[in-house]
Amino acid sequence: MLNTKKHYLRSIIYNKTMIENQEHLDKLEGKDKREKVENMFDNIANNYDFLNHFLSFGIDYYWRNKVLNIIKSHDPKSILDIATGTGDLAILASKSNAERIVGIDISQNMLNVGIKKIEKKGLDNLITMQQEDSEDLSFDDNTFDLAMVAFGVRNFENLEKGLGEIKRVIKPGGILIVLEFSQPRSFPMKQLYAFYSNNILPTFGKIISNDASAYTYLPESVKRFPAFSDFTKIMDSVGFKNTSYKSLTSGISSIYIGEK
Ligand SMILES: C[S@@+](CC[C@H](N)C(=O)[O-])C[C@H]1O[C@@H](n2cnc3c(N)ncnc32)[C@H](O)[C@@H]1O
Repeated sequence: MLNTKKHYLRSIIYNKTMIENQEHLDKLEGKDKREKVENMFDNIANNYDFLNHFLSFGIDYYWRNKVLNIIKSHDPKSILDIATGTGDLAILASKSNAERIVGIDISQNMLNVGIKKIEKKGLDNLITMQQEDSEDLSFDDNTFDLAMVAFGVRNFENLEKGLGEIKRVIKPGGILIVLEFSQPRSFPMKQLYAFYSNNILPTFGKIISNDASAYTYLPESVKRFPAFSDFTKIMDSVGFKNTSYKSLTSGISSIYIGEK
């Protein structure tokens, strides 16, 4: 009897959480997703860096360094960092031989945090930041040797359109590198990750950022994202060549590469 009650209570809590998650997501998906995503990142911009490193236990440094190694292996002179946010990957890319790095993002508050970091590091001659939508870039065709997106493609309103636009501004033979969350598929990481992303992440994210929707949106958007070979198929369909992916940390995130 007690067990049945416990089970009943647990399923109510579970269903309530799922419904709330769905409501948050529905509020963020849809045709004006872009504006809602922009507002969400504007709201959390000042806490973003702390939350990012704290909630990932610092693993994001390791993932970004993997991207840096790939950048170095292609030795690009010009780099576009799409959905640059507070600019961590653009700043890291300054360790390559690039002579021009441009970071773009829809959230001006995220960019403002990044601009301060770039100025503090004396990198403002190398890195410029500007507000742009990845689905409607202002750059000419064939401008950059390499484009990269870290934890950004998941937020695009129209994934194919965003990727197509990125391809347009990459030079022929240039490279796209995407770093994005995926979901671990094997025991025990799959179960640990599910617990973490459904419970710990939204709770701490809400307390620290004061924005309930942002850290409920994150795991839900990861669940919906077409990861692994589903994503490389989309890259193929947009016209990228020699696409491949590599899972990191048991599949918590993945790096995707494609050539124009
Ligand atoms: C999770 S943050 C990642 C930021 C940064 N790349 C990093 O690795 O920390 C996602 C960023 O994508 C930006 N974003 C979402 N949709 C975008 C779009 N359509 N065009 C440009 N930026 C976008 C958001 O404003 C946010 O700054």
